[in-house]
Amino acid sequence: SRRVAILISGGGSNMIRLVESMTGDHPASCVLVASNDPEAAGLARARAMGIPTAAVDHRAYKGDRPAFEAALQAELDKAAPDILCLAGFMRILTPSFVQHWEGRMLNIHPSLLPKYKGLHTHARALEAGDSEAGCTVHLVTPALDDGPILGQARVPILPGDTEARLAARVLAQEHRLYPLVLERFARGDMTRIDL
Ligand code: GAR
Repeated sequence: SRRVAILISGGGSNMIRLVESMTGDHPASCVLVASNDPEAAGLARARAMGIPTAAVDHRAYKGDRPAFEAALQAELDKAAPDILCLAGFMRILTPSFVQHWEGRMLNIHPSLLPKYKGLHTHARALEAGDSEAGCTVHLVTPALDDGPILGQARVPILPGDTEARLAARVLAQEHRLYPLVLERFARGDMTRIDL
């Protein structure tokens, strides 16, 4: 079975869906949930599901990204994952960390990449007058929110949408898409999924 570690910064709803998906004849299992924020609500949720957790507080490293990543890497090395899933992990990673995991690290981003890399994706889609939005799972490469796309899910933008309503509609699709992509990826299948 492939060993999966999940990195989170917040509530971890995608993390929960990934953990819940790894049952039965699934080709992977979750060996660690780690966060840059010791207070991240998702850490307690992972522990409640019986998953080992680690917290590496980025604030303790005072902007020294390589030192933060070395501490994070030490936690990951102990768990020895084959695959790393970023799920609402809100720290930018250095090229050397990314290169260490390249080909083995997935990210979910709340836009239809290549549109709206970075933050505030839903506000930007609304501001642009787009008729649809969505989410993307991609392999992580050193450039931010770049890298080969493994799957996308689309949703309509509806009259009267707010950022919060659109975010909720997209998040529901994130919860469908990420487990499907991870299962395929863990089987060695990189065929793109479109929902
Ligand atoms: C998700 O919408 C995810 O796509 C987004 O953060 C949210 C995390 O929610 N990720 C990014 O913005 C990455 N830059 P969750 O903690 O409930 O999974």
